[in-house]
Amino acid sequence: MSNYFDSRDFVKLAGNHVQSGKKMPGATLPTFPEQFLWGVATAAYQIEGSPDADGKGKSIWDTYAHIPGKMKNGDTGDVAIDHYRRYKEDVAIMKEMGVNAYRFSISWPRIFPNGVGKPNQKGVDFYSRLVDELLKAGIEPFGTLYHWDLPQALQDKGGWQSRDTAQAFADYASLIAEQLGDRVKHFFTLNELQNFVDMGHRGTEIKVQGKDVRIELAPGLQLSTAQVNQVSHHAVLAHGLAVQSMRAIRPDLLLGPADVLFTGVPIIDTPANVRAAEIATKKYNERFLDVMLTGKYSDSYLQAAGQDAPKFTEADLKAIGSPLDFVGVNIYIPKSYVEASEDAKGFREVPTSLTHPKMGSPWHSFSPEVLYWGPRLMNSLWKPKAIYITENGCAAGDVLTTEGRVLDTDRVMYMRAVMLNLHRAISEAVPVKGNFVWSAFDNLEWTGGFGTRFGLVHVDFKTQKRTPKLSAAWFKEASQRNGIV
Ligand code: BGC
Repeated sequence: MSNYFDSRDFVKLAGNHVQSGKKMPGATLPTFPEQFLWGVATAAYQIEGSPDADGKGKSIWDTYAHIPGKMKNGDTGDVAIDHYRRYKEDVAIMKEMGVNAYRFSISWPRIFPNGVGKPNQKGVDFYSRLVDELLKAGIEPFGTLYHWDLPQALQDKGGWQSRDTAQAFADYASLIAEQLGDRVKHFFTLNELQNFVDMGHRGTEIKVQGKDVRIELAPGLQLSTAQVNQVSHHAVLAHGLAVQSMRAIRPDLLLGPADVLFTGVPIIDTPANVRAAEIATKKYNERFLDVMLTGKYSDSYLQAAGQDAPKFTEADLKAIGSPLDFVGVNIYIPKSYVEASEDAKGFREVPTSLTHPKMGSPWHSFSPEVLYWGPRLMNSLWKPKAIYITENGCAAGDVLTTEGRVLDTDRVMYMRAVMLNLHRAISEAVPVKGNFVWSAFDNLEWTGGFGTRFGLVHVDFKTQKRTPKLSAAWFKEASQRNGIV
């Protein structure tokens, strides 16, 4: 395998570099606990391509991406970065980058082309080969069962509006536990529940430079609040039933969600503002993390929802609140900055100023302190056994130079800043066990298409040539020294 790194970007480990959290002579930069994981993440539809290969069924994204006008520049995941066929090369690149954990997602319709019924062994075999390749490379595999690519056959029967989808998910989860659980020890159930529920079933309005922008995901429905609340309930139920069904097959698996943490960040660190941030964070996550981690819907949610509250049973809550081994959360931005307030809500949102710095996506304010406050507030609110940051990262205006390099200095700055904040949380005994950068490779950024590049590795989408960016060299140096460089 060729050396993917440009020697100018990376100082080869020499005698004065040491592994595993030991400092270089004279270095004062922070280091992480011994077992800390330096991971990267991807998702099936964004990278795999081969939408019909080996008996795969259609997902809602295969359908949605072909609806004219939905995707920027008409981009689709039909080829993506051709990872389905190039996975060996991709694993080799990750190995060379110093990655020691990889979060990939499994495409449900590769395993169950019709969502339920007879599994497709060839689909399972692909992930089995990927896992073997990762283990051979010394990379710990972390599987995500659902990164938004619902089998179209299930959508045709009501999708997440139907309670049966939650049961179908649990059945799929138990098959994966049986087939891959001998080698994959950690599984995340569903990715970013709040986002796929809301953006997929009514669209979410976000403020960009003071203007409202609507973000939509497949299947692109416009449902009522009551219907969306029922969809939310089926999503958390799917999580809970999957935890139960996987444990029934293999009690030794380590399980949790990979949700998105909607964080209220105290604008200034005072005790009153921190309390306000806690109240806000609990409220922002009441339909998702809060019910998963407490086993009940908060009274304030049910009262405020009134007639629109979801229909559920006590048995549902018991499943949803199944004990977890860890909580995975994707953290990019605060939901808002907050300050204390005397009103009934208990917090006031402080809008970000129009000149607040931004990363490459329109929604992405540069607020690295959310990587400190998010884990800290999760810890004080719900006391999870362990936390994984299942995604953070940024898009950047990457350019391949004539010398074949991508000098993404902004991404390096971003990663250094978020890791410093995460380090602060860990140094205060918040049990964060690892961080997965989004993303290993440039890929299909959903409706944003291929123009929004999040990778540590640049991909030329025409030739499929992979080129590690400067940020990949930063990642390698940091992971090998287990510290912030
Ligand atoms: C998702 C990824 C996505 C990333 C950047 C997360 O919401 O899980 O699939 O590409 O953010 O937008």
